[in-house]
This record gives sequence, structure tokens and C-alpha cells, in this order.
Amino acid sequence: KHVTVMRGGISSEREVSLASGSNIIEALQEAGYQVSDLIVNDDLEYVIQFLKEQRPDVVFNALHGRFGEDGAIQGVLEWINIPYTHGGICSSAIAMNKQMTRILLADAGLPVATGKVIPIQDLIIQDPLPVPYVVKPIEEGSSVGVYIITETDEQLRQQQREKIVKEWHFGDNVLIEQFIPGKELTVCVMQDNALTITDISSGTHHFYDYVSKYTAGESKHVLPAQIHPQAFQDAMNYAQQAHKILGCYPVSRTDFRYDTTNETPDNPGKLYILEINTQPGMTKTSLLPEQAAYCNISYPELCSWLVEHARC
Ligand code: DAL
Ligand code: MG
Repeated sequence: KHVTVMRGGISSEREVSLASGSNIIEALQEAGYQVSDLIVNDDLEYVIQFLKEQRPDVVFNALHGRFGEDGAIQGVLEWINIPYTHGGICSSAIAMNKQMTRILLADAGLPVATGKVIPIQDLIIQDPLPVPYVVKPIEEGSSVGVYIITETDEQLRQQQREKIVKEWHFGDNVLIEQFIPGKELTVCVMQDNALTITDISSGTHHFYDYVSKYTAGESKHVLPAQIHPQAFQDAMNYAQQAHKILGCYPVSRTDFRYDTTNETPDNPGKLYILEINTQPGMTKTSLLPEQAAYCNISYPELCSWLVEHARC
């Protein structure tokens, strides 16, 4: 089988995608596939021409973020009729949009944090929610553009909000969510089955930010997470349900916060779903490969499995 690995792209997660992609290429070659490497820049015509000439059996979509993970490139691949890995147009578009995801999950009774979308300019006027709260782009990945507002001094906080608005380049609107103290958890789903739960601690970083995500040793992963058994079961179920609700295929990774404030042996803490990723990172520090390994699925096996489950 001839597989073209598409990587790079023009989102803020380009470097992550290049790293994911180069690991994937190596693994697919090791697994015996004929592989071509397509580094995507802003020239879409080149991409289309490359694919029309090569006519691969499958495109491995290793792109992340805008245009790669939001249904845009999926639409192009459908149009030129080449099977591709990961989610289709609709689930990708919804999952890329954190507010759409929140609405659909809440509608199905799954727990999401209190939050709202406001024009970014409104942040100058006042705090949109009680402190602490989180300011995040509606459509970004890898924690790019995420701010956690914990400052208790009104004036300092005002300055902080003004600075955010000044630097903001993620569109007219912004998602504001109540900050959930506690743990960061993630659950990967492969074809309707939750693999396990990883508990991520970000060490000296205040949260699982871009640097702690992609620098070896900057975050600590414990899997399976040592949490209340009821919360464990709930998170596994929620991830499977979220995967279904959004129509994810064949993988997804659901990210949670777990508030342990009121956790006792009789009582689990409270889970909140932050978002769902339809093209989870595949770098050496990424979570899906790690959970797959925990389930005795090697990295080359995971990549081959994704190729064999390409959508036609
Ligand atoms: N957005 C990054 C790549 C992830 O979800 O792993
Ligand atoms: Mg994400």
C-alpha cells in the first residue's frame, strides 16, 4: 500500500505536526508501507497536484489545528476522492470548535465547565466570570493562546486583561471558562473503546501548556491514573460517549479536568470535559501513543491500524 503522510500545515501547531509526521513516516516504513512525505505549506494547489500525481491508496493526515483538523483538508480529500485517516468533515469541524463541542456535550448531559463566548474587546471592560477563570481561543490546539487568570488584585488583573486583548490574534471572540482546580486527565478512544486514563502533572508549569506538552521531562504522566474508582469509570464512559456524540472516527482523545476538592473514599470528585481532539498528537511525548503502548499496541501498530481504518 502506498501512503502519503501529510504534515506541517499552516496552523500554530505546524511544528507539532512536523514532529508527529516524521515519527509516523518512520513507523509506516518499518511496517512495510510505501510512504511519501507531503509537507503542507500555504500552497493548496501544490497539495492537490501532488496527490493527483501520486494517487496514494491512503492519505495519513498528520496535520493539526486549522485547515488540517477542522474539516477543511478533509473536504479537499473527499472532493478528489482519496481515502484518509482520522475524522471526517463534520466531526472535525465540531471538535475544532470548543464552544460547539461544549454545547453538544452539555446537551447530552455530559459535564462541562461553566463558560461563555464573548467578544475579545469585552475583556477590557470587566471580568467575564469570577476569578479564577480561563481565557482561550475557540479554535486552537496545544494550549496555544490560553491564559489562566488567578490574579486577585483588581488593578493588576485589569492590566493583565488589557495585555491579553492587545496581543490577541485568535479572532473576534473568545471562550471564557471557570478554572477547575485539580488534575488534568485524558482518555483516548480507539474505535469506541476507551484505552485508559493518563494523569498529567505539569511540574513547574501552571498547567499543561505548549512547552510542557512537547518538551521531554517537562510533564509527568501517570497511567492508569490513580483516582477514585467511580471517577475512573465515569471518565472512561464520558470519553466513549463524547466520541460517539461527535461522530469521531476511529480515534479521539478527550481531555478533562478533575476537581478533587470534595473527593473522599465514598465520594468521587467532579469531572469536567475540556475538549475532544480528533487528531491526537503523535510525537514522542504524546498521549495516544503512550496509552496505546499501555494496551500493548506498539507505535508502528497504531500507525498501521489508522491506515487500515482510513475512511473511503
Ligand atoms: N492538538 C494536539 C496535537 C493534540 O491534541 O495532541
Ligand atoms: Mg486540543
